[in-house]
Amino acid sequence: MSKRSFASDNNAGVHPEILKAIKAANDGHVIAYGNDPITARAIKQFQKHFGNDIAVYFVFGGTGANVLGLKAILKSHQTIICAETAHVNVDECGAPENYTGCKLVLVPTTDGKLRVEQIKPLLYGIGVEHHVQPGVISVSQATEMGTVYTKKELKTLASFAHDNGMLLHVDGARLANAAVSLGVSLRESTAEAGVDVLSFGGTKNGMMYGEAVIFFDRELAADFKYIRKQGMQLPSKMRFIAAQFEALLAGNLWRRGATHANRMAQILGGELAKLSQVKITQPVETNGVFAVIPRKYIPALQKKYFFYVWDEEISEVRLMASFDTTEEDIRDFVKFVRKTVK
Ligand SMILES: Cc1ncc(COP(=O)(O)O)c(C=O)c1O
Repeated sequence: MSKRSFASDNNAGVHPEILKAIKAANDGHVIAYGNDPITARAIKQFQKHFGNDIAVYFVFGGTGANVLGLKAILKSHQTIICAETAHVNVDECGAPENYTGCKLVLVPTTDGKLRVEQIKPLLYGIGVEHHVQPGVISVSQATEMGTVYTKKELKTLASFAHDNGMLLHVDGARLANAAVSLGVSLRESTAEAGVDVLSFGGTKNGMMYGEAVIFFDRELAADFKYIRKQGMQLPSKMRFIAAQFEALLAGNLWRRGATHANRMAQILGGELAKLSQVKITQPVETNGVFAVIPRKYIPALQKKYFFYVWDEEISEVRLMASFDTTEEDIRDFVKFVRKTVK
């Protein structure tokens, strides 16, 4: 009997349209490492959605996309300014520091979002050899707290970065959910907002694996083909990542999957908010619901439904909806929570 939980959109399976695309790509021999017609078609789709002037490279995973995208635009005496809660800080085992050699400068946030006022005081010692030099502002869109930067907020960060000799990197593992939440296109939420380098995620939105690194200024990608290979993220059977991205972008599956996941999170958040023992802690803007549930109930809940406690100190849990979450899943889960916390 299949079972769906709310632990992570990474825990979901693969969307049937993606599986179909993988199967269709599994036909005969093609040249490896991206010199194949499916990769060419997928790149066309990226250009359609993100703009013609981009350089796009496929990699195996999200950590690899972030680390190599950052490596391409930084020198090791420069900084990566990010939220304390950022995936690059919390969940990448020090890979960004290890592979870029750069110092992460952490900014505390309550909602996962960086603001210019918080970054201004960090820009001291410019040109002084004793100090690391500001290099990149890295934000997650959507953030790790399920929140979303508005287009204006991103634009403000991009302008501030550019005015101060920095670049804006976006971890877009859940960019689809953010774009749907804002009601904008992928291009509007990135190129038009002034983003320089983007990790575009597919895995959390129905793909089996594979992410893309997109440079909105091709010059920034000048050495990327070497960086990707040296960084062990050059897939030989590239056509299978390309086929997945083609399926995700060509039929607007990215939008359908993210719209559904976001809507399911809205319903889940709304239902949980009705329980007096449960307190929703973040606005539900994408496919994540953050809630404080009294500690004493967590083991009983986790026995039946696996999910992560996000902040042990305050007993805050993270519940994620996926492209395949159903209203029935939510009804069953909320019923169980209601019974447990009574
Ligand atoms: C915000 C964010 N960025 C990047 C990633 C990519 O991680 P991975 O290396 O596991 O694909 C994740 C996955 O959980 C994520 O949540």
